[in-house]
Amino acid sequence: MSDFIKHPVVSLPDRAPEPVFSKEELVFTEAEKEQIEAFRAQYPTPESAVMKTFWLAQEKFGFLPPEVIRLAADTLGIPFSLAYGVATFYTQYYKAQKGKYVLDVCTCFSCQLCGGYDMLRYLEEKLDIREGETTEDGLFTIQGAECLGACGTAPMLQVTNGPYVHNLSREKLDALIDALKAGKKPPFVSVTLPQDEDDLGGNRRSDAEATEVGQTPPAAETFE
Ligand code: FES
Repeated sequence: MSDFIKHPVVSLPDRAPEPVFSKEELVFTEAEKEQIEAFRAQYPTPESAVMKTFWLAQEKFGFLPPEVIRLAADTLGIPFSLAYGVATFYTQYYKAQKGKYVLDVCTCFSCQLCGGYDMLRYLEEKLDIREGETTEDGLFTIQGAECLGACGTAPMLQVTNGPYVHNLSREKLDALIDALKAGKKPPFVSVTLPQDEDDLGGNRRSDAEATEVGQTPPAAETFE
């Protein structure tokens, strides 16, 4: 066997780990089933409702181990393999227990060029954990993330599938960690970039303004 196959570059999740939830715990309530049925009714095929069903399941169980993915698939009547593929594609669906605050630091192209990895490494140092790990007090998990669609304010991060923190610096990260430790979530910040290159003034990153728009459901509503 080649070294590549023995040591894949991407670590694959274990498809059949010990179940976390008992059979008794692993059920949707009648109200949740009704909600999933309502999701299903919004689309021509049940497969299309899998993402909303996962959000509901993640809100309920905290994360999506294989048995929860199977529960969602069975409830929708779709193949486990299809549901598993969706759940493992998106970092926003947690395949393992996470900390109260999940800090998704974007390390994709724009953020990488603007210091995304520096921000990630700084957080690792500050919280004394490595990427993918959770602090002992269960408060923080750090993850590297692919493009989160806010390249104009790189480098940036997202807090637990909710608010974005733009134009990161070490000072901003210090303030963010202090605020989260005090239970204060960052505000939603929507950034409007000028459409005309002449308006840019040479610095897209100076154009941030706080607004009420651009909120990211559904974790946002349950953020504490
Ligand atoms: S590259 Fe980071 S948000 Fe797009």
